[in-house]
Amino acid sequence: MSDHQTSYLDQSDAVRERFARIRERDVILEVKNLYKRYKSAQGETEALRNINFKIHRREFVCVIGASGCGKSTLIRTLAGLEKQSAGEVLLDGKPVDGPGRDRGMVFQGYSLFPWLTVKRNVMFGPQMSGHGFDAAERDARQWLELVGLTKFADSYPHQLSGGMRQRVAIARALVNQPRILLMDEPFGALDAQTRSKMQSHLLDIWRNIDITILFITHDLDEAIYLADRILVLKPHPGEVLEFIEVPVPRPRSAAQFSSPEFLATKRRLDELIHPPVAEDEHAAEASEKSSIYRLTDVADNVE
Ligand SMILES: Nc1ncnc2c1ncn2[C@@H]1O[C@H](COP(=O)(O)OP(=O)(O)OP(=O)(O)O)[C@@H](O)[C@H]1O
Ligand SMILES: [Mg+2]
Repeated sequence: MSDHQTSYLDQSDAVRERFARIRERDVILEVKNLYKRYKSAQGETEALRNINFKIHRREFVCVIGASGCGKSTLIRTLAGLEKQSAGEVLLDGKPVDGPGRDRGMVFQGYSLFPWLTVKRNVMFGPQMSGHGFDAAERDARQWLELVGLTKFADSYPHQLSGGMRQRVAIARALVNQPRILLMDEPFGALDAQTRSKMQSHLLDIWRNIDITILFITHDLDEAIYLADRILVLKPHPGEVLEFIEVPVPRPRSAAQFSSPEFLATKRRLDELIHPPVAEDEHAAEASEKSSIYRLTDVADNVE
């Protein structure tokens, strides 16, 4: 197979030119020397250490890393829901200090109001910020159409599937016309088929409107399929390992999952996230397991 020779650093002319164009666009988000430490009775956890990066207008950036490496801490800090210990977050050049309508959030859990209809959920933000009922309703209808839920405007969240609820959550975040959409494993709770539909749907939305997206995921395929660039974090403390330019051309399609560029990128992400275990760690792991094995004699030769 020729993909063994392909490196994730190899870019076609079209891809290289696209990245050059992206770099010419305005910087929407800049993170400078960001640190986050949590203090608790057990001591201090350094969740993020010296994070630096920039995201350009209409870029799609994914963040990946092992569990506990600080992905949610990072996105919550960008959202203004956590205060950093040191460093700066600049949105359009202005320091972020607390939550704001310029950042839309979508989480893994469904954060819709169960007592409001789909349309009223989407209208909630505009109404809270002083828009009249009619204007809020007009906006809500427009965004529900974009996420394909016009027919469900008067349904309640419990009457929708998981994928549909996340589409409402996206509409509810976008109705405020944020500069950036911050998504923390938004499709993590969906089944594989719904998840892949939601990925294509999100790419459609992103293509059609002026939005920059920062998207957290555990799933390497999802990150490569969606992203222009992938920010890879390492745990304890959370630090940037690499900011990878995805060499897979756009528009993306499921057929690319087995392309040489796709596989080369996946191999690189795998190497970064699952580095080879050192010999002494192997020994420690084996001795930890042995006490469990002793309890399961009956499982001999189950295969
Ligand atoms: N409120 C908190 N108080 C104390 N420590 C915290 C708090 N939130 C997160 N941490 C610690 O900070 C580190 C990063 O946590 P975070 O939730 O950001 O990781 P994550 O990459 O989102 O993990 P996952 O992939 O499991 O969602 C972990 O060691 C976690 O225990
Ligand atoms: Mg998390």
